[in-house]
Order: sequence, then C-alpha cells, then structure tokens
Amino acid sequence: MPAHRILFICLGNICRSPTAEGIFRKLVRERELEHRFEIDSAGTGDWHIGCPPDARAQHASLQRGVDISSMRARQVSAADLARFDTVIAMDLNNLQQLRELAPRSHHHKIRLLLDYTDIGDSREVPDPYYGGNHGFDLMIDLLEDACDQLLANLLGRS
Ligand code: 4NP
Repeated sequence: MPAHRILFICLGNICRSPTAEGIFRKLVRERELEHRFEIDSAGTGDWHIGCPPDARAQHASLQRGVDISSMRARQVSAADLARFDTVIAMDLNNLQQLRELAPRSHHHKIRLLLDYTDIGDSREVPDPYYGGNHGFDLMIDLLEDACDQLLANLLGRS
C-alpha cells in the first residue's frame, strides 16, 4: 500500500502546523505506522521561509515530548496540492488560501483540522503568534486531541 501523504498548513509554518506535524509524527511512530504515512507542513505566507519553529511552539511541544527544533518553514505551492493526499488547514483563512491555490479537482483533499473533532466551539485552531503562553497551551491541547482523531479517521478509511 502506498504511503498516505498528509500536509499540515497554517499561516507562518512556525507555530501551529509544525507542531501538528510533530504531534502527528509521534502518534504514527508510537503505533509503528511510519511506513504508512508521509508527513509534512507548510505555510500559506512567505515571511518565515527557512526559519525554525517559534521558540514558544518548540517549548510547548517539548513539554509533550515532541522535538520540532529541526523543522524549517516553507511556503505551500500548487505542486503540494497535487502531490499530497490530505491537506489539513488550521483555520478558515488557510482553507480559503488553499482553495484559491488548488484547482477544483483537488479541493476534496483540503480539510479543516477541527472538523475531525467534536472539541471546542470553534472550527479553527486560534493563531497563537501575537498572544501569550496561554495561547500555546490551548494550541497544543487542541492539536493533540485533533491529531489523534485525524489519525483514527485515516486508519478507519483503509
Ligand atoms: P502560525 O503562526 O501560522 O501558526 O505559524 C503565525 C506565525 C507568524 C505570523 C502569523 C502567524 N506572522 O504574522 O508573522
């Protein structure tokens, strides 16, 4: 069976999507399913290309046993939308940007992360960049729960 290619998307690729990538990788590794998935993340914006994740995101991740320090930000491209099987947006702005980038034939691949969950009363993972540490704690709680349910959903399909 070919690996399922999954791409996590946020705005800057330095807070939410690299953290989601790290958490999803950890869940896959714990289940010894590395051969079943190809996992990556990117941003819709270009401001942070080549940068490591935000120090606050690195810290919050490490506290949950996830080291994202070696990741580097990149910008999503139209080629990504063709290559990946599932493209996971953190918020409605990301979703809109991805829909504009992709031909209609690829729109079915693009989903909001929190649509895989019944947590919270928002469909969006809030952008923590301009806030304090509380935003990063909330972010990581949402991402852990949602990535677990996303993986269960993808495994349930195969
Ligand atoms: P992210 O957070 O989309 O979760 O990586 C942000 C990072 C940087 C900016 C905005 C959001 N920025 O405006 O530079």
